[in-house]
Amino acid sequence: MAATDLERFSNAEPEPRSLSLGGHVGFDSLPDQLVSKSVTQGFSFNILCVGETGIGKSTLMNTLFNTTFETEEASHHEECVRLRPQTYDLQESNVHLKLTIVDAVGFGDQINKDERPIVDYIDAQFENYLQEELKIRRSLFDYHDTRVHVCLYFITPTGHSLKSLDLVTMKKLDSKVNIIPIIAKADTISKSELHKFKIKIMGELVSNGVQIYQFPTDDEAVAEINAVMNAHLPFAVVGSTEEVKVGNKLVRARQYPWGVVQVENENHCDFVKLREMLIRVNMEDLREQTHSRHYELYRRCKLEEMGFQDSDGDSQPFSLQETYEAKRKEFLSELQRKEEEMRQMFVNKVKETELELKEKERELHEKFEHLKRVHQEEKRKVEEKRRELEEETNAFNRRKAAVEALQSQALHATSQQPLRKDKDKKKS
Ligand code: GTP
Ligand code: MG
Repeated sequence: MAATDLERFSNAEPEPRSLSLGGHVGFDSLPDQLVSKSVTQGFSFNILCVGETGIGKSTLMNTLFNTTFETEEASHHEECVRLRPQTYDLQESNVHLKLTIVDAVGFGDQINKDERPIVDYIDAQFENYLQEELKIRRSLFDYHDTRVHVCLYFITPTGHSLKSLDLVTMKKLDSKVNIIPIIAKADTISKSELHKFKIKIMGELVSNGVQIYQFPTDDEAVAEINAVMNAHLPFAVVGSTEEVKVGNKLVRARQYPWGVVQVENENHCDFVKLREMLIRVNMEDLREQTHSRHYELYRRCKLEEMGFQDSDGDSQPFSLQETYEAKRKEFLSELQRKEEEMRQMFVNKVKETELELKEKERELHEKFEHLKRVHQEEKRKVEEKRRELEEETNAFNRRKAAVEALQSQALHATSQQPLRKDKDKKKS
């Protein structure tokens, strides 16, 4: 098929015609099929708890899910922030929930404890999902999705203002995860202070451009309640697993000498609002936002980093094959360039070494010649000395012989003298 035909087919969008059915066909059961399939498959939901050590994270999780998750207390002397995920299988009616609670252990304890490990953890979960998606044989159907659906950010109930660490951390996380800020241990702050504190926090979040999760108002069924709840953020919560008798009912509460703080009493705290919004109304939206907004952003950046790009309007539409070919060519030419560079480097090195060796050889040769000359000079000097000595010896010998001859003559002469004297005496 010619390319122009293909374009014509892909661009043609015929208007669908509305027809009425003659009787019951049955595709109105599609939503039920979907529900049934989802229920069989089960759901996963992943909560990240960020807040300083001992702020009440574990207690709130236990209170929210009405169970006791086995968690250990964190020490205040952790060397760095460590992410501790724990997964549980929960069942309510016939619905299975694979719940992962991730604790940012050691966060906010000391100055050097920053948000980087938290960001890295969130990215790592996105990366795992992306890798699964990019596999030839993917199994997304039974893939354990560990992407973080919500970050409950526990604010310390100082009544004062947000710490700069809180603002910096939330700013770093807001494009990666749905943040729901909550004021922890809200029973430790008075009602009027709490009201002011909430306003102050929201003001600070807005002025610092921190985007927190907004409960969706586009679905009619929940738009009203969500809009009301958005105005209550950040929720001021109290956690407790203790049960106290109030009237003739056992309720979860914190008991003090001056009274009882009931966790599920909306006059006492926003726990019910949080549970309603997080679990009963917006859990699916949190999951969806994670996939369609945060993961999408991560995926786009990652694929762009890898060189994939959508068309920019007038050019050809995005083609995986073309991008792959272009990348392959780019990679091969880069490889060739590197190879050539290395070959040239090797040749240069060999040349350099050759030159160095030649220079060394020339130096050695020069040294040898010099030594040879010195040696010959020495030899010549020694030879001359020897000749001189020989001459001296000869001269000495000659002189010695002459002296000896003279001596023997003199000796002979002295031995003849007394005889002549005797002869002379006899004559006279
Ligand atoms: P780590 O995991 O060790 O960082 O602590 P955590 O944040 O999980 O805190 P945890 O739930 O262990 O609670 C620490 C202490 O705070 C416990 O003594 C809880 O009883 C208490 N606590 C928890 N929630 C509340 C609350 O809402 N109000 C008050 N006043 N105390 C609370
Ligand atoms: Mg804990």
